[in-house]
Amino acid sequence: MTTPVTEVSRAADLLRAGELVAFPTETVYGLGADASNPQAIARIFAAKGRPADHPLIVHLPDASHLERWTSELPALALKLAAAFWPGPLTMIMKRRPGVLDAVTGGQDTVGLRVPNHPMALQLLQAFGGGIAAPSANRFGRISPTTAAHVREELGKSVSMILDGGPCQVGIESTILDLSGSEPRILRPGILDASALGDVLGFIPEFGAKAETPRVSGSLEAHYAPKTPLNLVAAAEVAQLAHRAAQSGQHLAVLAVQPSTFSHEKLEWFSASADPAQFAHDLYARLRELDAIGADLILVEAPPATDSWRAVADRLRRAAAGSNRGQNIGVIKP
Ligand code: TXA
Ligand code: MG
Repeated sequence: MTTPVTEVSRAADLLRAGELVAFPTETVYGLGADASNPQAIARIFAAKGRPADHPLIVHLPDASHLERWTSELPALALKLAAAFWPGPLTMIMKRRPGVLDAVTGGQDTVGLRVPNHPMALQLLQAFGGGIAAPSANRFGRISPTTAAHVREELGKSVSMILDGGPCQVGIESTILDLSGSEPRILRPGILDASALGDVLGFIPEFGAKAETPRVSGSLEAHYAPKTPLNLVAAAEVAQLAHRAAQSGQHLAVLAVQPSTFSHEKLEWFSASADPAQFAHDLYARLRELDAIGADLILVEAPPATDSWRAVADRLRRAAAGSNRGQNIGVIKP
């Protein structure tokens, strides 16, 4: 039997040879390739079915590598790195001229992150350079949080899958853009605005400025199951589920509130009332709900509070991505 150490060094060799290696991070599994090898990067886009203008995050062994990838290294970036790396924060900065266009989507910026997972860090250290890695799912689909999910999504197109167990965080990193006049959060994550604010000295705004390039995580339709998914207000879940089940629809419900009735057409999954735990479980749950083959998935909309922001963001996009017009009780969170 191979030991994890030899697995990791074999994975590093495969990356050097231009192959794809999926690896665990604390957020979701990544589909890794040598960030300095254009052919290897092309393989990522082919495997995911991802449009070529979507930039990739470059994963680094530690913050001392930042200078190799950036042309300007803001003092704030070093401060944030010291506070949050390794961890679920991606920082967008001005890139060095040598950084591949295929990685940056042709932009003058690059997204950088040091992930907080022992196996990812071992791999990065063994490889010794930047590993470009999007989430290891087909484009637009649910991000993988276990090695088995990666196999389901990408099985044949990846040379090796490192299995580091289920991801601790469960949703993708917070993306903070440091390339503009002031820091902005392009994608909410578990690391929230107030935690960033503690280090920045002010709370950053959300959303890209008009001139900022598109973040694929910001597309309306993303993280989508195949079954239509509707987000419904907490006060309406029971009533809508009842009505849909009575009308003969096979329903899967994900809700914090307990079920108040049973019906042969209804499968009720209870979700955590804690946002971090909800995020941790979210993608695995969406896969489970999808696998039931129901006509419809109903999800209780989370509270409109800061601590639920990242979860609400992913649910809204999952609903947008999955919905093919069966709008019973759709609400906008
Ligand atoms: O947690 C994560 O960030 C995971 C793990 C594997 O690290 N990765 C991940 O990658 O979520 P991906 O490719 O699925 O999402 C990365 C997002 C994309 O939406 C991409 O558009 C954005 O980061 N991004 C990367 N570089 C960028 C740049 N230079 N400017 C703006 N957005 C960028
Ligand atoms: Mg992704």
